[in-house]
Amino acid sequence: MSEWFETLDGLHDRMWQRLSRGVADAKSPSRQPTFATMRDGWPEARTVVLRAATRETATLEVYTDLRSDKIESLRATPRAALHVWEDKQRLQIRLQAQVEILSGDTVADRWEKIGAGGRQSYGKRPDPGTQLDSALDYEITASFDAFAVLSCRIEAIDLTHLGDDHRRATYRRDADWRGQWRSP
Ligand SMILES: Cc1cc2nc3c(=O)[nH]c(=O)nc-3n(C[C@H](O)[C@H](O)[C@H](O)COP(=O)(O)O)c2cc1C
Repeated sequence: MSEWFETLDGLHDRMWQRLSRGVADAKSPSRQPTFATMRDGWPEARTVVLRAATRETATLEVYTDLRSDKIESLRATPRAALHVWEDKQRLQIRLQAQVEILSGDTVADRWEKIGAGGRQSYGKRPDPGTQLDSALDYEITASFDAFAVLSCRIEAIDLTHLGDDHRRATYRRDADWRGQWRSP
């Protein structure tokens, strides 16, 4: 019996298990990936919460405020990189995705499910990123109009496992997720 990290399929399966776990378990490292976008040729990275992971379509979902700066970046360049370090698994997950910005009726079901506390993350006044005279000079309001779902269609996966041996493998949607070992 081989270990999960010794086969291309084993690594790929483990990645999806960990991403699903991230959605379900607030303490899982995959719960809070780093989400990077591009603006004027500069990379910009921030922590987000992983809200959905669907292996069948290889898509992830992240929620955000429709007026946040990342939306402007994504409107110009609808691509993102996501990164997770699963410490206990010794697994680094790097993803590249095409991002669709969803809002309004199509995301009403997600809004219903997030509850009153969670909704406060969407709709602060003034808009996120606005200069303030003092640190707390903003209002917390929940607004469905400010709620956006970033639907991330994964195009490429790069996994690195740091065990006694180091292993790295890549997978691409346009190769039907067939894995390829790479020098780490
Ligand atoms: C633990 C943690 C979780 C976060 N989750 C989210 C999130 O799910 N969505 C989001 O838009 N911002 C989230 N943020 C805030 C972002 O990291 C970022 O500061 C904010 O979205 C503004 O980014 P922007 O100006 O690039 O749009 C989170 C921050 C932390 C520290």
